[in-house]
Amino acid sequence: MLDILKIKSNFPIFFNNKKLVYLDSAATSHKPQVVIDRISQFYSSENANVHRGIYDLSERASEAYDAARKKVAMFINAKNSREIIFTKGTTESLNLVAYSYASNVLKKNDEILVSDFEHHSNFLPWQDVCKKTGAILRVLESDKFGRITKNEWQKKLSTKTKIVSIAHASNVFGTISNIKKIAETVHQFGAVLVVDGAQAIPHLKVDVQDLNCDFYAFSGHKMLAPMGIGVLYAKDKLLDLMQPYQLGGGMIESVSMKETLFAQYPEKFEAGTPNVEGAIALDKAIDYLLDIGMDEIREHEIELSKYLLDGLNKISRIKIFGEIGAEGRTGLVSFYVEGVHSHDISDYLSKSGLALRSGFHCAMPLHQSHRCGATLRASYYLYNQKEDLDFLLINLKKAINYYG
Ligand code: ALA
Repeated sequence: MLDILKIKSNFPIFFNNKKLVYLDSAATSHKPQVVIDRISQFYSSENANVHRGIYDLSERASEAYDAARKKVAMFINAKNSREIIFTKGTTESLNLVAYSYASNVLKKNDEILVSDFEHHSNFLPWQDVCKKTGAILRVLESDKFGRITKNEWQKKLSTKTKIVSIAHASNVFGTISNIKKIAETVHQFGAVLVVDGAQAIPHLKVDVQDLNCDFYAFSGHKMLAPMGIGVLYAKDKLLDLMQPYQLGGGMIESVSMKETLFAQYPEKFEAGTPNVEGAIALDKAIDYLLDIGMDEIREHEIELSKYLLDGLNKISRIKIFGEIGAEGRTGLVSFYVEGVHSHDISDYLSKSGLALRSGFHCAMPLHQSHRCGATLRASYYLYNQKEDLDFLLINLKKAINYYG
């Protein structure tokens, strides 16, 4: 059992915002003091650019940056830290796959397959790549629980499919996809599997070798690290096929007036001064998560999901999205109140200090395919307690009464 009060005391945001009941960790998580301190320590005593100077300070900064890459590789069990590319977040990671891999390998009438529950970051780059290459974007439609049925896979996946890109966990349904099984099927058709792990990695143990996905993209800021740091994991044989789409300093072997020789990956895909502060703070965030234990975090969130689902089910006019049970979802529940706009409810709740997201959650196609307006999303993490959910439930009932 996690000692939530002790964990909460590690997060200064709660000390500085006494009334805050934060239920928006799917948008971004808060940061523990150790992560904040790590950033301050870097700028106070280690700040220098990396891989550019041969003086002591630059070498120390480079070592810390390289160590962060190794820590990420260990955390997701990548074969080699060279398979870890630092980006500014999941969005940039997915754009990197789209423009450095897909744009190079796709031909006219090849197919890319995504689901209807993808975040816009896992839709827009593919729509654009299709326009540029003549490939075709096909969409797997989810059932009311946020699952893709076997029948739907059989209808849409074929030997024409070259890329399947899917969320490990939906940011609206919370539904966790069985990536290992999907990878097996996708590989039978000779396609590569890209996984948007933004909503999964803060909550689940991720082992990319076991999942056998080809690419795995995620952000630091949803897993206790700062904003502006993210990761693209890519199998090395695919990195060999990729061409950088951002060019500049730090990613070259040599440059002449006529010709440029790129560096090896991962540097090849990290043009410009990288987010060193972000990478080393991500390293610290991983330590923090591992100290608490990913299994323990998962267990705690399942308890919270059960509690919230139970409470929401007792309130009339509330319609819940996604899996019926708690085990099949990450730490979030999306819902709406029949007859009241979700923004009105959210506005009402915010007056009591409740922070949760309402709207389309950057997943408009999902709301369209499920013929649903804006939803409310309560998302929780290792620092939330049942008391936070009680507070939400009490205030939700008040909001419903208020709007009639
Ligand atoms: N992708 C984040 C969310 O789902 C911002 O809220």
